[in-house]
Amino acid sequence: MKHLITSALPYINGIKHLGNLIGSMLPADVYARFLRQQGETVLFICGTDEHGTPAELAALEAGLEVAEYCQRQYERQAEIYQRFGLSFDGFGRTSSPENHELTQHFYQRLDENGFIQEREINQMYSLEDDRFLPDRYVVGTCPRCGYQSARGDQCENCTSVLNPTDLIQPRSAISGSSNLEVRQSKHLFLELNLLADEVKNWVESHPHWTLLTKSIAMKWLNEGLQSRCITRDLSWGVPVPRSGFAGKVFYVWFDAPIGYLAATKAWSQQAPGRDWLSWWQGEDVEYVQFMAKDNLPFHTIMFPAAILGTREPWKLPDRIKGFNWLNYYGGKFSTSAKRGIFLDRALDVLPADCWRYALLAMSPESSDSTFTWEQLQTKVNKDLADNFGNLVNRILKFAAARFDGKIPAGGTPGEPERQLEAQCQAGMKAIARCLNDLEFRKATNALCALWASGNQYIDDRAPWALLKENPDRAAMVVRTAINLIRIYAIAVNPFMPATASQIFDALHLSASERSSSLTLAVDFCVLQPDRPFEVLPPLFHKLDDARVAELRSSFGGD
Ligand code: 2FM
Ligand code: ZN
Repeated sequence: MKHLITSALPYINGIKHLGNLIGSMLPADVYARFLRQQGETVLFICGTDEHGTPAELAALEAGLEVAEYCQRQYERQAEIYQRFGLSFDGFGRTSSPENHELTQHFYQRLDENGFIQEREINQMYSLEDDRFLPDRYVVGTCPRCGYQSARGDQCENCTSVLNPTDLIQPRSAISGSSNLEVRQSKHLFLELNLLADEVKNWVESHPHWTLLTKSIAMKWLNEGLQSRCITRDLSWGVPVPRSGFAGKVFYVWFDAPIGYLAATKAWSQQAPGRDWLSWWQGEDVEYVQFMAKDNLPFHTIMFPAAILGTREPWKLPDRIKGFNWLNYYGGKFSTSAKRGIFLDRALDVLPADCWRYALLAMSPESSDSTFTWEQLQTKVNKDLADNFGNLVNRILKFAAARFDGKIPAGGTPGEPERQLEAQCQAGMKAIARCLNDLEFRKATNALCALWASGNQYIDDRAPWALLKENPDRAAMVVRTAINLIRIYAIAVNPFMPATASQIFDALHLSASERSSSLTLAVDFCVLQPDRPFEVLPPLFHKLDDARVAELRSSFGGD
């Protein structure tokens, strides 16, 4: 089996926050890195989701043409994901020609197969803005509770679901103008009701999906699928190739998931010998999707329905990993409210690997979880600096000082070494099992336990004390410990790739010595006597209380 992995495509408007990172891109990256290390063939795809009104409005606010705005934001986002070590094979754009073409193709197939219906709907038109207003860009007073800034789709105050025409004194959220009128406009609907049975059969054919994924899918199916409008009166987006639809585009959620295919096609065009269809129509592909829970309805119901309705053999996901919310001091991280920690600023605080580990250790898998600076401090200071970094640093320093910067010869491993090996075997298996099961928080716990067993071994064997009474045994313990560091570097590689590379370099490992699978890595004979190594500076720096207090106040964590 080959492995196709996609992460939900982040919206183009603005740098994403830590919640976006842990909610799909980061775990998807860890899984992709893990599988590559296991020797599997992997294609990891992501990209930017560039259509929709928010992108248009953000461009307007920035004083740029939408295309120019998206180009700049695309580059900014791609650069920051690279700095976080996200190893996308293809990072595409939904505004690409490939996505335009594939989206129109999907629509045409759905239309030929009788799943598209044309209807007239009433929509608010703003004379001042000279445009139709999407429901959520009409604001006014809620007829139920009197809240004055209710949106045309929903009142945030009393949660009533509304139509824009329900609002009292409606006005445009763009210009504030109340010079609005209701106009008729022709739109296309995807007849989800006609595909409901097929979608249900498909969902039910996956008994092993997680509770979160399954329950959201079943909730939608049990409520009965309604046809959904898949077009909008906008100029930015994929044009609708149908007569009478000039000036209309597909709804952003219709073209966004097709963006996975389009990004793969774009990837295939960047080098010879890449066959994108073999990934999307091949039999030998296991496909895993990663996303936050609000994306689940689109990926378990709407997109599968569109795929099934094309009557073409596009790959449907085998597994869907959904994440709950990572909250920030009780509230949500929010791009629109600029609340929380954004990726560019996060890197000013700590290196990417610290964030990667700490976020995975707090990942909101079984329920929502809360980010706090104090928890970050514990993860960095206790797990990374004390448990892992310190072991690496003290062993290499000691070995360099006492054994001449070479792996020492002498001594024979005994029972404690056999025990350590057994613990490492079990630990590596546990990590691999968690990652195969897409359990990221558990995987970091297993990693931490693995480090703890190494510390226990070194504390028990105390090579510094042995040096005088039994130098041969001290040499063997140090050699064992340096081999252990290599095993650790392989174990942490999917989680903290930059740190792993630092260790690989320090140990002068060859390409093949670095690329061992987790399960085959437990071999204490790889680094033989006399091989050179370098001493590493401390791998992680602690966050002291004063720094935490400062971060908390400057990021508003109260
Ligand atoms: O929620 C979001 O951030 C969306 N941009 C995810 C889209 S996923 C895919 F369908 F493109
Ligand atoms: Zn209300």
